[in-house]
Amino acid sequence: MEVSSDLYLVVLYGTFLSLLLGYGSLGCLEEEKVGLLQLKASIKHQYDTALSSWGREVGDCCRWKYVTCDNKTNRVIRFSLRSISNFELEEWSLNASLLLPFQQLQNLDLSNNCLTGIQGLLRLKKLRVLNVRGNELTTIPILSALPSLKVLDLRGNDINSSQLQGLKYLSRLEVLNLQLNRLMGDILPIIGTLGYLKSLSLGYNNLNGSSSIEGLCKLINLEELDLSHNRFEGSLPACLNNLTSLRLLDLSENDFHGTIPSSLFSNLKSLEYISLSDNHFEGSIYFGSLFNHSRLEVFDLTNNNKYLKVETENPTSSPQFQLKILRLSNCTLNLPSRIVPSFLLSQYDLRVVDLSYNHMTGDVPTWLLVNNTKLEYIRLESNNLTGVLALGSISIHNHMLELDFSSNCIHGELPPFFGSIFPILAVLNLSGNAFQDLSNNNLSGQLLEHMMMGCISLEVLKLSNNSLHGTLPTKSNLTLLSSLYLDNNNFWGEISRGFLNSSSLILLDISSNSLWGQIPDWIGDFSSLITLRLSSNYLNGALPTGFCKLNELSFLDLSHNKIGPTIPPCANLTNMKFLHLESNNLTGPIPHVLAQATSLVTLNLRDSKLSSPIPPWLSLLSKLRVLLLKGNQLEDLIPLQLCQLKSISILDLSYNHLSGIIPPCLDNITFGREVPLMDYTFSVDGYGTWVHASPQSYSFENQLFVYQELFITFTASAEREEIEFITKSRSESYMGNILYFMSGLDLSGNQLIGLIPPEIGNLSGIHTLNLSYNKLTGSIPQTFSNLKEIESLDLSHNGLTGQIPPQMVGLNFLTVFTVAHNNLSGKTPERKFQFATFEQSSYEGNPLLCGLPLERSCTPTNALTVVKPPVLNNRENSSWEAIFLWSFGGSYGVAFLGIVVFLYFNSYYRELLFYFIGKHVPFLQLG
Ligand SMILES: *[C@@H]1O[C@H](CO)[C@@H](O)[C@H](O)[C@H]1NC(C)=O
Ligand SMILES: *[C@@H]1O[C@H](CO)[C@@H](O)[C@H](O)[C@H]1NC(C)=O
Ligand SMILES: *[C@@H]1O[C@H](CO)[C@@H](O)[C@H](O)[C@H]1NC(C)=O
Ligand SMILES: *[C@@H]1O[C@H](CO)[C@@H](O)[C@H](O)[C@H]1NC(C)=O
Ligand SMILES: *[C@@H]1O[C@H](CO)[C@@H](O)[C@H](O)[C@H]1NC(C)=O
Ligand SMILES: *[C@@H]1O[C@H](CO)[C@@H](O)[C@H](O)[C@H]1NC(C)=O
Repeated sequence: MEVSSDLYLVVLYGTFLSLLLGYGSLGCLEEEKVGLLQLKASIKHQYDTALSSWGREVGDCCRWKYVTCDNKTNRVIRFSLRSISNFELEEWSLNASLLLPFQQLQNLDLSNNCLTGIQGLLRLKKLRVLNVRGNELTTIPILSALPSLKVLDLRGNDINSSQLQGLKYLSRLEVLNLQLNRLMGDILPIIGTLGYLKSLSLGYNNLNGSSSIEGLCKLINLEELDLSHNRFEGSLPACLNNLTSLRLLDLSENDFHGTIPSSLFSNLKSLEYISLSDNHFEGSIYFGSLFNHSRLEVFDLTNNNKYLKVETENPTSSPQFQLKILRLSNCTLNLPSRIVPSFLLSQYDLRVVDLSYNHMTGDVPTWLLVNNTKLEYIRLESNNLTGVLALGSISIHNHMLELDFSSNCIHGELPPFFGSIFPILAVLNLSGNAFQDLSNNNLSGQLLEHMMMGCISLEVLKLSNNSLHGTLPTKSNLTLLSSLYLDNNNFWGEISRGFLNSSSLILLDISSNSLWGQIPDWIGDFSSLITLRLSSNYLNGALPTGFCKLNELSFLDLSHNKIGPTIPPCANLTNMKFLHLESNNLTGPIPHVLAQATSLVTLNLRDSKLSSPIPPWLSLLSKLRVLLLKGNQLEDLIPLQLCQLKSISILDLSYNHLSGIIPPCLDNITFGREVPLMDYTFSVDGYGTWVHASPQSYSFENQLFVYQELFITFTASAEREEIEFITKSRSESYMGNILYFMSGLDLSGNQLIGLIPPEIGNLSGIHTLNLSYNKLTGSIPQTFSNLKEIESLDLSHNGLTGQIPPQMVGLNFLTVFTVAHNNLSGKTPERKFQFATFEQSSYEGNPLLCGLPLERSCTPTNALTVVKPPVLNNRENSSWEAIFLWSFGGSYGVAFLGIVVFLYFNSYYRELLFYFIGKHVPFLQLG
């Protein structure tokens, strides 16, 4: 018994010993182990578990996490310290001498660490791969000490061009990624000497120096060339043809001009990825010249200028490629027929299709959905596609995230099983078409209900401007919905309980429908709501107390309903920026609860039944730019405190019962004289837009080619701030940024008395001034000749006397001018420049006024009293040409404003989501 147990012990012991010895002979070098532990100790703030295995187990450091040894020599050849340092706690600066023990190191990954520097000489003779992307390096190691380097990844640091002189020592470099740094000027000549380069990424810098792009033509081994997001200008050198190994060519987001050399595509037969988007290329591209490129997978020509024509129908043969990404948005496509490219009929592997903004005609290509079941994004918005979107027969699209067919002429019935076809759809935009909801015998919004039960992944649903009708649904399963647009349809009935089950709703727009009843109290459950638009319905009654829970609300439009009589005192308006309550049943004084709305930019209380004086506390709303109180019963004096609202551009107090004088201090208000900083970017529409597909380098190392990182940015573009304001005798509506171009003061239709203060002439930025229908007396101030920007001036129906200041003839933008029905006398202003365009109606009803265009001529004595404007004197014989030019200037102004009316807020971008297509290779696998 004893013997055998002794024997047992010996055997056990022996096994242990031999294990130990075996370990010793197989394990890593002691000095490398110590080196790794020193390295670990030097990183003060690590993510908790990152390097916990290092040192805890005795023995072989080759088995430690993130460490790789050569399996013959047991020397450490690679370690990866990616995302190890917790940079929220401290920056990390590496002492290069800590790496001295690792003389066999081939691959060093220090990416994503907020590394601020590498001190000392990084002398690693065997190093082939150095990955320091995603740090904060402003300097790079001395490159001559790294003679074997093949891959250098410096993406996402703060490197500037002067750091890169040492690149010339890296004659064996094959991959160089300098994306997202601070490179400026011209570094291409140095890079042009690196003859082994296979992959070069210089995207997202500030490079120009286009002339030296020719220097890259010598790099005939190049397979990937990314110059995107820089400031290269000029035309593409023809010698790029020489890069016959090129698989990826990304020149997007530069200022390239000129034609695309026709030989470029015909020579570069290996191309898999081509992006020339967002440049200014000209000439024609024949898509047929790419049909033999059997490997082409990505083609992006979005947003070149209108001088670039894209022709896909010539020749009409079938391409050899199967594309994955095709973006031809905003191209001049297939003139004159503007047909949908027919080669698409042969494609069945598409993931991203963007043919938006092309004026394409013909039937909506539903077959794209039938043929391409892997689609993730399809955007056909803003074309002239017609016909029926027949989804009856299409199969399930498990990958579809965004579908945008808005602004076409598509009609028909949407199938109720929409949600089961697109189970993960996040953005659906079918607005601006003629979709109808026929499936339900005109009785209820059954379609919508089906969608809301089925499409449970929807985040943005936009069905604006269709012909959907019926009541709003009573159930919904859209728990992820953030934005819902149902505006400009024919929904009727009350806003039903349970209509939404979307606690994260940020935007709700059901304006311009036929809803009635009260706004439901449960609106308060949408506590994240930022934008709420219910205007132009038949809603009535008081705002519910639930409304007081909407603390985040910053855009509220309830205009054109019958809501009243007041705003509940419990309302929390501290975040409110745009408040539109026009045409409702508000009564009594202006609600005092508004005094806390100190973020307000626009306050529109027009056309209600508000009475009492204008409260002095309005001066607390110091950010106000638009104050619209027209068409109420406000009385008493215009309070001087209004003059403290310095930022106001548009002030409309017309058609009230205001009395007293016009406060001279109104000239304290800017009225467009200085444009305040854009401090009211708001937004929130959350409408996803796919922006850029950027290539990844090194992919060839794995014999894998990847395009990935489709950025989705969320823009606020569709949100609009709309203001109507009477100018040029008609009411125009201004949207978004127009507030920066429009300024006006309207005090018409009150009982104001006294003189027009000469200070009003100091409002040199004002575009519109309307003082008509008051009881003003005295003369028109001479200072009015300073209103250099004025386009519309209405002083009619007052008791003004004296002469019209003749200097006013120099107001070059005036297109509407009337002083009719006053007691003015003397000669009308000279008929030149803009004043040559004004007719009798501008002057009528002033018995003592004489001169053209009135029929009453002036006596010679009258003529002598006219003081001629000195500046204009020498141009007295102004020709018709000059008159024409000035009036043209006026109409140009009109056209300009007309265009700007269509500008939307576009100021707020936010990256919300990264989406990966194809295979994602997080970090380098080499060796
Ligand atoms: C040792 O390395 C070689 C090449 O480096 C590799 O092919 C082989 O599979 C490795 N052996 C082991 C056991 O890891
Ligand atoms: C780097 O480490 C070495 C060896 O531990 C030391 O002598 C040197 O002073 C360190 N350098 C810096 C800048 O900390
Ligand atoms: C590169 O292209 C140009 C013209 O496109 C040609 O003249 C030149 O010989 C080519 N160079 C090489 C190295 O092929
Ligand atoms: C795509 O759909 C069209 C129309 O149904 C059809 O003619 C064509 O053959 C389809 N193409 C592929 C590749 O499936
Ligand atoms: C709502 O969606 C969930 C899945 O998220 C599902 O389980 C549930 O049955 C749906 N409810 C209805 C009424 O369809
Ligand atoms: C107008 O501005 C002047 C100078 O900034 C200031 O002294 C005056 O008090 C202001 N008037 C009003 C009514 O705010």
